[in-house]
Amino acid sequence: MGRKESIGIGLMGLGVVGGGVAKALTERAEAIAAQVGCPLRLRKILERDLAKTRASKMEPHLFTTDAAEVIGDPEIDIIIEALGGERPAFDFIKEAMGRGKHVVTSNKEVMAKHFPELLSLAKEKGVDILYEASVGGGIPLIAPFKQDLSANEISAIHAIINGTTNYILTRMAAEGLDFSSALKQAQKLGYAEADPTNDIEGIDAAYKLAILATLAFHTEVRPDDVYHEGISRLSSRDFRYARELGYAIKLLAIAKEKDGSIEVRVHPVFIPEDLLLAKVDGVYNAVQVEGDLVGRVLFYGQGAGALPTSSAVVADVINLAQRIKLGVSITPSLRLDPTKKIKPISEIETRYYIRMSTQDRPGVLAQISKILGDHLISISSVIQKETDVAAQVAEIVIMTYPARESAMRKALNEIERLEVVKEVSNFVRVED
Ligand code: NDP
Ligand code: HSE
Repeated sequence: MGRKESIGIGLMGLGVVGGGVAKALTERAEAIAAQVGCPLRLRKILERDLAKTRASKMEPHLFTTDAAEVIGDPEIDIIIEALGGERPAFDFIKEAMGRGKHVVTSNKEVMAKHFPELLSLAKEKGVDILYEASVGGGIPLIAPFKQDLSANEISAIHAIINGTTNYILTRMAAEGLDFSSALKQAQKLGYAEADPTNDIEGIDAAYKLAILATLAFHTEVRPDDVYHEGISRLSSRDFRYARELGYAIKLLAIAKEKDGSIEVRVHPVFIPEDLLLAKVDGVYNAVQVEGDLVGRVLFYGQGAGALPTSSAVVADVINLAQRIKLGVSITPSLRLDPTKKIKPISEIETRYYIRMSTQDRPGVLAQISKILGDHLISISSVIQKETDVAAQVAEIVIMTYPARESAMRKALNEIERLEVVKEVSNFVRVED
């Protein structure tokens, strides 16, 4: 055992995550000390709002509004970054590592945007950076990818990694709510932020997918590489058709590797209703991984919230503290191969659901199916149900066999220009 008598901790941010972490570190101090072999001492907390510090149960002398006091404290061995946002969090993390501190962060934006830079800086400075909470909150994901799944060639990830959107989609499916009412409900219950853009546009999920794909495929996948589309175009009608056709609609983060080429995308998807992922409801997250040895595995649990997220952050802290106590040299162990080819969205192949509003008269379907046929898109089924006889307007739903995205886009453009078509109301990709 090393001679260190305690391990110093600096905490940046006492919000949802930081508050949960401070509570767990305080309430479980004895059990954690037994696991590490010496106590952890919370020495400084960075916050900018002193009213918050008064409301907390932490001792007032711990608080500072000056990051340099945390980063420069020689008694601090591990800094927990729970501020959020790219900056100044990224700068603080780099400064902390530059001063020889190990870092634990829950910040997906920083990790997704600066992964290789942070890992090589950590290596250079002989420190480590752990980020289990950055994807899937309390669900163990980063450690399994780094260790337990490392013998596998990973071929695919299908993930529900945004609780806010999964909650909204669950309410739309179960109660027939439209998107804006479901969003309002989510905001009222604290599941969606006042500005929900990052969640509903798939940006939050794209950050998380970039991290998972980087680990799974051993190559840098940047957030900009991830195609993302949000959920606001979905309507209650899409859910009705999905149910009738035997599907659920989920915002999926999908990563696949085939022949050295990677596809990474976040968008709404029709998935068969009997899949386990289709049954993941509310704010829960689930990540399904396919490896050549392990087959298909599913990680499921709470992807956000103070307690689940503190579970991941505190576990990272314990991991580092144990190694510091033992005097084991600590550096990140990630292998990153040269960048593999990222497939543009135009090159992916999938099945499609298309919903459109057309005139209700002979020959309409023939015109639409001719365009699809011209683009080598084969129809697997057609539904025409909702007909407004007075206005002579019909709603047509077409399911296709797998087709190239570029062909589908061109076909939809041409279909939209047909005189007999009022509008292409929506199209959603299908994953079987
Ligand atoms: P919060 O907004 O609840 O907490 C962040 C805290 O840090 C706030 O108190 C904020 O103060 C403070 N802060 C931010 N910037 C500074 C600064 N420059 N100086 C001093 N204090 C600052 O965020 P969360 O706890 O929800 O999230 C933190 C991170 O964890 C994010 O990266 C998030 O994506 C990630 N995460 C969050 C999860 C969750 O369930 N909430 C789950 C998993 C990851 P102020 O309020 O005054 O801005
Ligand atoms: N906004 C995220 C979600 C929470 O809805 O899942 C933390 O990552």
